[in-house]
Amino acid sequence: MLSTNRREALQFLIAAGGMAGLPAIAGAAGEDPVFAAYQRNAEQDPWTLIVRDAPADGFSGDAQLIHGQMPSGLSGTLYRNGPGRFSRQGWRYRHWFDGDGFIQSWQLANGRVSHRGQFTQTDKWVEEEAAGRFLRPGFGSLPPGASGLNGPDDMNVANTSVMLVGDELLALWEGGSAWSLDPETLESRGPRRWGQGLDGVPFSAHPKVEPQTGIVWNFGQDAFNDRLVIWKIGPDGQLLDAGLIPDIPGGMVHDFVITERSLVFLVGSYRYQGRADTFNGSFGFEAGTPMLAVALDKNDWSQRRTWELDPGFLFHFGGAWESADGEIRLDAALSDDARMVSQGAQMIMRGEPEGEFGSHTQHRLVTLGAGGRARSEVLGPDYIEFPQVDPRFVGRRRRQTWHIAWSEADERGATRIERRDLETGTQDGFDHGEHVFVEEPLFLPSERGAEGEGWVIHTALNARDRRTELHVFDALRLSDGPLASWQLPYACPFGFHGCWRQA
Ligand SMILES: [Fe+2]
Repeated sequence: MLSTNRREALQFLIAAGGMAGLPAIAGAAGEDPVFAAYQRNAEQDPWTLIVRDAPADGFSGDAQLIHGQMPSGLSGTLYRNGPGRFSRQGWRYRHWFDGDGFIQSWQLANGRVSHRGQFTQTDKWVEEEAAGRFLRPGFGSLPPGASGLNGPDDMNVANTSVMLVGDELLALWEGGSAWSLDPETLESRGPRRWGQGLDGVPFSAHPKVEPQTGIVWNFGQDAFNDRLVIWKIGPDGQLLDAGLIPDIPGGMVHDFVITERSLVFLVGSYRYQGRADTFNGSFGFEAGTPMLAVALDKNDWSQRRTWELDPGFLFHFGGAWESADGEIRLDAALSDDARMVSQGAQMIMRGEPEGEFGSHTQHRLVTLGAGGRARSEVLGPDYIEFPQVDPRFVGRRRRQTWHIAWSEADERGATRIERRDLETGTQDGFDHGEHVFVEEPLFLPSERGAEGEGWVIHTALNARDRRTELHVFDALRLSDGPLASWQLPYACPFGFHGCWRQA
């Protein structure tokens, strides 16, 4: 259980670090050029629906089967989370990651698919809905008249991912608390309180679940003070331990991987450079600063190994495993720059394709050698994102990674779903064509235990039809095309991440 010392240290974190204490600076009033640019581009290109404002009272509807039939044995709920509100009173956020959290559920039962989407009732959302304007700074935006913050949860938008633990659905952000929701109704229950003194402590959007034990590992970052928080949670949702890890450089650490023995972090070269008027504005890409890999011993977090890699940046890992002699291998979507977060996500807000500022992430395999030597190899030339693994093989040696991929034909977004076999290097994939923009795929295991036996499910925007779709594939036969596809009678804003609850 959490020691008193650790609790005090974490309380200190809330007071001194995170995003608390950002200054209140009034932005310029008058016509907003970002709002105007989005309106203009949205009239020209329905691709811009990926960053539309969802209606305040959400969406509800049945999806229509447009292809194939529901695979037998596939029954459950796909939850998705992402930003869904970007503008108020003619002023639009500057950064994609600022939008208020919009949670969606796709229920697959008895051959039918029903959908709901609604805003998570964070404190920020409730107060801004009542006021009719933005009141708080965002990750990368400073709305006119935004006020200062007393703690990270004052600006918590709960918009990044979603997970099930115990009987709770948690809408995850990364700068503050997870937000607890009812998994049936999606109603908000408030910030998740893990224990005394832990309110508002950063809880990242990429927890990892040990398949053997159900133990949930997560981290949080205090980038302003070069520290990480480690969280260890039981399968029932009870906190087992938490602690503060000092001397981790202030990079934008978004995801991590576990092996059977280690917690592994890559600190990219997008580093904290001093407090600016937004969180994202406080970071810059340092082309001469190597990425740092850090592995902490799961059983003794004070034991660490470190490696240096070429300068770069990443959001997302596939998975990792570790050999008996301590060599760690991991795969990730890695780029040589951080243009997506520093420029691309701002272009999307204006309704402009990211083009060359978009995801330059390639699928790479990184080896962290037992002797302190590290190397990274590019597995394919394509730009990819959202690498996924079979959850039964988290932390263990495995072969398969599923991801989305960009087509050269369309610079607005990814249109392909792919699988790469890490041992043979072979690829299998499906391209939906130039008007269907794909979101994160999730691997859903079937009852058999072999790696890759199951389905891949993903949502997508059909820009031609102005509707959101759901597609299910045989996970090992993507090139056969979807087994089944459904379409909603409306278009939802893009989400970032999701999770699955098998019925
Ligand atoms: Fe993410």
